Amino acid sequence: MSGNELFPFTEEHEMIRQAARDFAQKEIAPIAAEFDESGDFPYETIMMMGEMGFMGIEVPEEYGGAGMDTLAYVLALEEICKADAAHGIIMSVNNSLFCYGIQKFGSEEQKQEYLSPVASGKSVGAYSLTEPMAGSDAGSLSCQAVSDGDDYILNGRKSWVTSGPVADYIVVFTMTAPEKKQKGITAFLISKDLPGFSVGKMEPKLGIRASATSEILFEDCRVPAANRLGEEGEGFKIAMSVLDVGRIGVATQALGISGAAYEASLNYAKEREAFDKKIGEFQGISFKLADMKTRLEASRLLVYNAAMAKERSKTTGERFSLEASIAKLFSSETSMFISHAAVQIHGGIGFSKELPVERYFRDAKITEIYEGTSEIQRLVISRMETGLR
Ligand code: CAA
Repeated sequence: MSGNELFPFTEEHEMIRQAARDFAQKEIAPIAAEFDESGDFPYETIMMMGEMGFMGIEVPEEYGGAGMDTLAYVLALEEICKADAAHGIIMSVNNSLFCYGIQKFGSEEQKQEYLSPVASGKSVGAYSLTEPMAGSDAGSLSCQAVSDGDDYILNGRKSWVTSGPVADYIVVFTMTAPEKKQKGITAFLISKDLPGFSVGKMEPKLGIRASATSEILFEDCRVPAANRLGEEGEGFKIAMSVLDVGRIGVATQALGISGAAYEASLNYAKEREAFDKKIGEFQGISFKLADMKTRLEASRLLVYNAAMAKERSKTTGERFSLEASIAKLFSSETSMFISHAAVQIHGGIGFSKELPVERYFRDAKITEIYEGTSEIQRLVISRMETGLR
């Protein structure tokens, strides 16, 4: 089952899926364990992904991207994540949390200056909303931007920035009018070279260890008003609508992890013998595999459905928050279910670092947390369905 029957896949989609699969299996899978162990950032393979057009798949070619659609994006991302979820989140953040925001809300000058280098993969992009005291409650920011002539002065600390230590450019959300709460939030495009900007504490992590995550700090950092993304006070809506796209990326990441964990389990169940039988002949294993496969395919359909909703929004302008949150919620919880079952099916060797199965289990957990926890997805879905708050 591939979704081919329900979704408008073209030859171009098959080509990008195959190119991503070949690249991921040849270049990423062999180094994934080593980079997971060291926690080093995989510059070389990320640069190669840029050359292949994977870092700005939906960005028009005139701005350095591949000029393809959202289905192409999720197909390629799924293959990268099957090989390594850490490479996957670097790609997802670059494409969705950085490029999409500038494509949708940036001025022509900003697109020329910031979108082109990041979409072409020559530079890495990041997105910084979260703060030590503002995670799920993203409207309660304390990082401040104060207007000063033609500039703003930024002060504060942001946390959990994926690619924070390596990004050349970051979209940062700040408070310009605290009394207005969410309506006082303003977004800026920051270059790492700005005086007063620095990278703070690195986060040692359970999973996706090859992706670099850190705090970023602003100390009297002077940012030209020309770097403001959108108008003053529009930042919260920009942050939320960009996160809708990010959530499709995380749902796809979880789908890739699920696929890898399921395939490893299926192969193992057909080879490993116990009590004079293949373990896949025992119902305790075969029914697990049936449940894993069923949820895997349901995740895939929800991810493709969300991708189609986003694609339609390019012409209708309609929000796709519901489809994105449903896909993220189901796909991330499924990746925990499948990777947990995969370790159990493999037994001792599943717990060992000799196989990637334990890594799938560790990597899956973050998909239920970042870019909106499962609880936040349930909140978004239920609010949209009931209209109540
Ligand atoms: N698109 C456009 N506008 C949106 C929107 C969306 N998806 N969601 C909300 N808005 C608008 C609302 O319409 C509302 O506008 P009006 O005032 O004009 O009516 C405004 O934004 C405020 O919305 P809410 O009242 O719903 O806001 P809230 O304070 O109740 O928060 C929330 C809603 C869903 C809880 C939101 O805060 C949220 O999503 N929190 C989770 C944040 C998150 O995902 N953080 C992860 C950050 S990234 C990361 O993990 C690190 C990384 O690098 C990967």
